[in-house]
Amino acid sequence: MRVLSGIQPTGNLHLGNYLGAIRNWVKMQDEMDADSACFFFLADLHSITVHEERETRIRNVREMAAALIACGIDADRSVLFNQARVPAHAELAWLLNGTARIGWLNRMTQFKDKAGKNREGASIGLFVYPVLQAADILLYQATHVPVGEDQKQHLELTRDIATKFNTDFGVEVFALPEPYIPKESARIMSLRDGTAKMSKSDPSEMSRISLTDDDDAIAQKVRKAKTDPEPLPEVAADLAGRPEALNLVGIYATMTEATPDSVCARFAGQGFGAFKPALAEVLVETLRPIRQRFVALKDDDVALDAILDKGAAKARAVAAPTLARAYDALGLMR
Ligand code: TYM
Repeated sequence: MRVLSGIQPTGNLHLGNYLGAIRNWVKMQDEMDADSACFFFLADLHSITVHEERETRIRNVREMAAALIACGIDADRSVLFNQARVPAHAELAWLLNGTARIGWLNRMTQFKDKAGKNREGASIGLFVYPVLQAADILLYQATHVPVGEDQKQHLELTRDIATKFNTDFGVEVFALPEPYIPKESARIMSLRDGTAKMSKSDPSEMSRISLTDDDDAIAQKVRKAKTDPEPLPEVAADLAGRPEALNLVGIYATMTEATPDSVCARFAGQGFGAFKPALAEVLVETLRPIRQRFVALKDDDVALDAILDKGAAKARAVAAPTLARAYDALGLMR
C-alpha cells in the first residue's frame, strides 16, 4: 500500500480541501506502519497554470507546507515535499505525453471549467495538467490516492495512461492507483451557492471558510451562509432539493464524525437560527488549534525549507527507479 496525494499551493487551504482531502491524508498517515511512508506534496509545477508573482509563489509553497503540518501531516513519518524540488515529475510527465491521447484530455471537465469560453487562449500547461498529475502518482507506484470528488476523473485518466503505457511497451512499470474519496465530504459546496463547489477561485471570501479565518470570521461566514426558511427534517433524505441545507448538514456531520441522518434527528424541527450557531461552534473549536499551529510555523522559512529539502531527497530516491524503467521501456538511453 502506498498513499500519495497533492495540493496546489495557490491561496489558503479551505474547508473543502480539509474535509475532502487533508483530513483523510492525516488519518491514513496515522494508520500506516511506521516504515511505509505516505507521500504528500505541494503541486507547485501545476500551479504555474495560474499566473503569480515570483515572491508570491515562493511564499505560497512555504505557507501550504506550514498549513499541512498544522493539519497533522508529520514530516518525520510522511514524505512532504514540493514537486519543483523533484525533477522526475516533469521528466515523467514528458514521457507520458507520448502515451496520453488528445481525445482523453479533451474530455477533462476541469480543463473545460478552468478554460471557460476562451479555450484557444488557455495555456498548454492547463491542457496537459492531468498528464503531470498522472506522473505524480505513477512515479511512486501509489496505490491509494485520497482526494475530493473533483479529482476522480484525473485518477481515471491516470489509470488509462498507466494501462496503455504498460500494454504498448509490454512492461509492468506502473501500478494502477485507486482514488480514495470520502463518502460525506467528497464535495463541500460554497456557503453562498449550494450548487457550486467551495473553491479557492471563487471571488467571494464569504463562499469559503479558510483555515486562516479567525473565530469571528468563521462565525460570521456561517451566520451569513445561504439557507432556506424550512426547519431541518427528521431524515437526511428529505433534504433533497435543498442544496444549501444539505451542505451545512454534511459539514456538521463530517466535522463531528456523525451521519447526516443522526444530525437531522438531533436538529429535527428546528430552523437554521438554532443550527447555525451549533455548526459555527464545531468549526471554531476544530479549526482554532490548526490555525494556531499554522501561525506559529508559517514564517519560519528556515525550518520549512529544511522540511521540504528533506522530503524532496526521500522522494527523489523513491522516484528514481520507476523513472529509469520508463526511460528504458521507451528505449531512451541516458
Ligand atoms: P486542489 O489543490 O484543487 O485541491 C486539493 C484537494 O482538495 C480537494 N478539494 C475538495 N474536496 C471536497 N470539496 C471541495 N469543495 C474541494 N475542493 C478541493 C481536491 O479534490 C483535492 O483532493 N490536481 C490536484 C492536485 C494534484 C494531485 C496530484 C492530487 C496534483 N497532482 C496527484 C492527487 C494526486 C488539485 O488541483 O487539487
